[in-house]
Amino acid sequence: MKSLSVALLATAATFTISPALAAGNLNVICSADVVICEQLKGDFEASHDIKVNLVRLSSGESYAKIRAESRNPKTDIWWGGTGDPHLQAASEGLTLEYKSDKLGELNDWAQKQAESSGYKTVGIYAGALGWGYNTEIFKEKGYGEPTCWADLLKPELKGEIQVANPNSSGTAYTTLATLVQIMGEDKAFEFLKEMNNNVSQYTKSGSAPVKAAARGETGLGIVFQHDAVAQAASGFPIKTVAPCEGTGYEIGSMSLVKGAKNLDNAKIWYDWALTPEVQSRMKDAKSFQLPSNKSATIPPEAPKFEDIKLIDYDFKTYGDPAKRKALLERWDREIGAIAN
Ligand code: G6P
Repeated sequence: MKSLSVALLATAATFTISPALAAGNLNVICSADVVICEQLKGDFEASHDIKVNLVRLSSGESYAKIRAESRNPKTDIWWGGTGDPHLQAASEGLTLEYKSDKLGELNDWAQKQAESSGYKTVGIYAGALGWGYNTEIFKEKGYGEPTCWADLLKPELKGEIQVANPNSSGTAYTTLATLVQIMGEDKAFEFLKEMNNNVSQYTKSGSAPVKAAARGETGLGIVFQHDAVAQAASGFPIKTVAPCEGTGYEIGSMSLVKGAKNLDNAKIWYDWALTPEVQSRMKDAKSFQLPSNKSATIPPEAPKFEDIKLIDYDFKTYGDPAKRKALLERWDREIGAIAN
């Protein structure tokens, strides 16, 4: 009898420690900040018998990886990152239609994102574009307060601006598409060419510019406003700006990969990530986006959409494969080619 219970205990121990006997794996690409990505992995693993293999990649890079692997997908689910490349993946048939039971709990903007893609992606959070600037650097150097897009062209800001590269970063693609929608395409490219005189670096990841500004390596980073708020909340001298001319926004999205090897587990993550409990905990990783579930708690730090002059961002047009490709090619020709 004793030896049987010892044997049973030994078996149970094997079950808990052997990954081969776990309920399975899940391969996740996470395109938001690494801190929230790690928090999600930890929370999911703590409440499910599923091992998560997580890769953090920027939105454009994630799209490119999923496209490159489409014949033999290595990813099951793509969580986060701006909506445009998720929409592009949806219209290219790289992602899978899925209607979660949780859909009805989401805000209209998140449901609309799902509808417009034939339910091949869904909104998980929203964030408005803007920038953060280092108030100590601006004060010390006597720069004026940069409250409008037009201020970013001031010659005094030479070498003081960082923004990401729109090929890799969804934040930077949102910036490009926003300027095109505010100014018209030719004027937007003229603006970007002129702003290039002030840009010291085009980073790979979207939030890197404001992290550099927080550390005093640059004066200003063009980012989603909640990424600037996150730096201020960590005690850095960063002020967040909602541009006076108006600005665009992202619908951070989530998609199941077509051909996913661990589809059942991917659906478990998908439904779980839409719950108010999971979305309400994002603030603990200083991820201050607006959550998509209507019952999730909106963090008090989240930039207030009602106070921001938002453009009517055309997700259908700017998430269209031909449009995104054309804008990125033009950016490479006209801006990438002259970038420092
Ligand atoms: C940050 C923001 C997210 C956004 C993401 C896009 O992590 O907090 O809201 O979706 O950037 O990243 P990317 O590197 O593609 O610009």
